[in-house]
Amino acid sequence: MHKCTVRAGSNIAFIKYWGVADPALNLPLSNSISMTLADAYTVTTVAWEERSAQARGEAPDEPDEIVLDGVQLDGATAQRIVAHLDRLRALAQVNWRARVVSQNNFPAAAGIASSASGFAALTVAGCRALGLELSPTRLSALARRGSGSACRSLFGGFVEWEQGHDDTTSVARPLFPAGHWDLYDVVAVVSRAAKAVSSAGGHRVAATSPFNPARIASLPPLLATVRAAIKARDISRLGPAIEQDALAMHGVMMTSTPSLLYWQPGTLEVLHAVRRWRQEEGLAVYFTIDAGPNVHLICEQDQVDPVVQRLQQLASVQQILVSGPGPGPVELDEHLF
Ligand code: DP6
Repeated sequence: MHKCTVRAGSNIAFIKYWGVADPALNLPLSNSISMTLADAYTVTTVAWEERSAQARGEAPDEPDEIVLDGVQLDGATAQRIVAHLDRLRALAQVNWRARVVSQNNFPAAAGIASSASGFAALTVAGCRALGLELSPTRLSALARRGSGSACRSLFGGFVEWEQGHDDTTSVARPLFPAGHWDLYDVVAVVSRAAKAVSSAGGHRVAATSPFNPARIASLPPLLATVRAAIKARDISRLGPAIEQDALAMHGVMMTSTPSLLYWQPGTLEVLHAVRRWRQEEGLAVYFTIDAGPNVHLICEQDQVDPVVQRLQQLASVQQILVSGPGPGPVELDEHLF
C-alpha cells in the first residue's frame, strides 16, 4: 500500500520571510529564522493509487481527491496542492492519483500559518508513500516550492532558512533542537476574518515598497542578533530584534502598491498592552505579527500564565492559543482514512 501519515508543526518566524526573488521557486530576498511549534500542527495522510486502466487509455483522468479539515477541495483551492502533488509525481516518475486527507489542530483563521505545517506534512507523507527516500534538506527544498515558510517546518526547534540562490541551495537548517529553550508563542486572536490578500500575493508586491530595500539591508545584523540571542537563551536580546523586524515587515506591507494593511484595532490594543506590561510591570514579553491581524506574544515559560491572564482582560482578544517549541515532522502509525 502506497500510504503514509505525517504530523508536522507550524512555525513562527522571528525574522520574517517577506518578498520573493523568484515566485516560481519561492526563493526569498533574505534568510529567515523561526521556531517550530509543538501544539499547532497538521496531520496529513497521503495514499497513491496506480492508474493502470488510465495508462492504457481505458479510463478518464480521475482528479486527485483532497479533503482539508473535513471539506473536499476543488478548483482553485485544490490547484496549489495538485501542483505540489505533480512535483512529487515527477520526482518518482509515476502518474498515480493521490488521495489526501489533512487535519489542522488549530483554527484556520487563528493567525498561525497552516500552509507551513500543511505543505511540510504533505511533502514528507507524499514522498514516503511513493517510496522516495529524500534527506530532510531535500524535503525542505521541495516543501519550499509548495509554501515558502513550509521549508522551515522540516526541522524541529529553532530553524534558519538560508536564502540560497537556486532550488537546491534555498533550504532550512536546524540551529538548536526544541529542548534548547522553553520559549512560548502565545497567540492573541483579535479577528477571525479571512485575510484580504494572501501571503503569496503579498510576497509579489513587497518589492514595490520604497522601504523594502532598507528592510532587507537591515537584516544581516538582526539575523546575527537573533541567532546569538537564541544560543544564549536571552529573551531581552531576542525580543527587541523580533519586534523591530515585525514592524519593518508591516511597514513594507503598508507602503506596497497595492497597500496591505493587515492590522485591526485589536492588533494595536495588544501591541500597546505588551509595551505597558513590559515597562510598568516588568513582564519579559515581546510581540511579532505575521500576514494577518493576530499578535504572537513570545515569552519564556514562567511568563505564560501572567501573559494569558492579562490578555484575557483585553476587550478585543477573542481566543488565546499557546505553544512551545516542537519537533520536526513525525510519521504516525494511525492513518486518517
Ligand atoms: C508573514 O510561507 O505563507 O508568515 O510561500 O506564499 O505560502 P507562501 O507564503 P508563506 O509566507 C510567510 C509570511 C510570513 C513570514 C514568515 O513566516 O516568515
